[in-house]
Amino acid sequence: MRTRDDSLVRQMASARRIETLADKTLDFGVDGMRTVLTSEHESSFEELLLSWYSRQAAYGRIAGTGSHVPEGRLTNQDLQKLVETTPEWIEKRTGIGERRIVGEGQAASDLALPAARRALECARVRAEEIDLIVVATVTPDTWMPSTACWLQARLECRRAIAFDVNAACSGFLYALSIADNFIRAGKVKSALVIGVDVFSKIVNYQDRGTCLLFGDGAGAIVLEATTGDSRVLSTHLYADGTGASMLEIPAGGSRLPACHETVERRLHTVSMPNGQEIFRCAVRGMSEAVQAALQENGVTVDDLALLIPHQANIRILEAVGERLGVERQRLFTNLERYGNTSAASIPLALDEASRGGRLAPGDLVMLAAFGAGFTWGSALVRWG
Ligand code: ACO
Repeated sequence: MRTRDDSLVRQMASARRIETLADKTLDFGVDGMRTVLTSEHESSFEELLLSWYSRQAAYGRIAGTGSHVPEGRLTNQDLQKLVETTPEWIEKRTGIGERRIVGEGQAASDLALPAARRALECARVRAEEIDLIVVATVTPDTWMPSTACWLQARLECRRAIAFDVNAACSGFLYALSIADNFIRAGKVKSALVIGVDVFSKIVNYQDRGTCLLFGDGAGAIVLEATTGDSRVLSTHLYADGTGASMLEIPAGGSRLPACHETVERRLHTVSMPNGQEIFRCAVRGMSEAVQAALQENGVTVDDLALLIPHQANIRILEAVGERLGVERQRLFTNLERYGNTSAASIPLALDEASRGGRLAPGDLVMLAAFGAGFTWGSALVRWG
């Protein structure tokens, strides 16, 4: 049985109606839902209520974070040798100084594994206690099985169910929302949520419009069931498939399976014909998703300790900050060191913010992302 805690007291107080029908029966309404409890044994009303409460859906709390980036570096000077550009142009137009790049033969799960281990260690949770693994990635180790399954075996999370989510740069927020909802539904007690991408394997290093943006990395969190206040307060997810062709990998799927021609035409690499339009949509999408989260939770932008946006382009981040009224000190950025790491971007930033002392218990931290699909969203988290 759970011990009495603050949120239980509040929940009890918020019960609109509590009355006894008989000696061992409680009849009450919480959140518009009527519940009748009958005790088979001798127990006080409080015990009865506590035992009911302990069976109710809890919320997801971020109990630990971890991240990992490969050792290889690709600087703006390196890119100057590959395409017609200058380090100054890249720095000024994107804010990116360098990216981390995997070595030959390294795949997504090679980055996700150390990130997940660090998150488990930070949360003091053993691998065998994990019930669910959700991996957000568009660069899986293999198309079948999922990267989550490769990882489940390597981590020895024997009892965890495992699957991947494909929502590109918004992938981590989609995965977080899924795991949080599994917890809220009472289906799992602990989840590993991982964002990992290895864009160096799918970028065309002859295309100066895209190759400067992306790097490789992984970030992970352990999400645990809680009835306390420190938790994921809300997630807001959106998609607009009419933007699908604006950012895609045309070949390698069932539409255009791999063949000599697709390889020769580099159709297995990222195609982004209109970066400027994505820029505009990203600023609007992330800003609106943040506003939706603020509104739903009855808080204002001044209540946020930190805004962690997907690390796409410093000008996108600044425009989002300006639109929302979040000054630079509360806008987390690390893209000068990693570039855009797609699904890894937010959990990598969250891990750095946490380990760097930028988050204190009780702080409100807002996460926001935008990516291919189009997909976008936000998550508001009470840290602790
Ligand atoms: N080096 C030097 N010059 C360049 C380069 C380059 N790498 N790329 C373009 N230019 C030139 C163009 O040819 C153009 O020259 P012109 O004025 O003579 O015609 C000029 O620079 C401006 O080009 P734009 O395309 O307008 O450059 P922009 O300022 O929009 O920057 C960029 C391009 C960086 C791609 C930007 O549009 C962007 O970041 N868009 C968002 C895309 C994105 O983030 N995608 C990732 C996935 S989705 C997400 O994460 C949100």
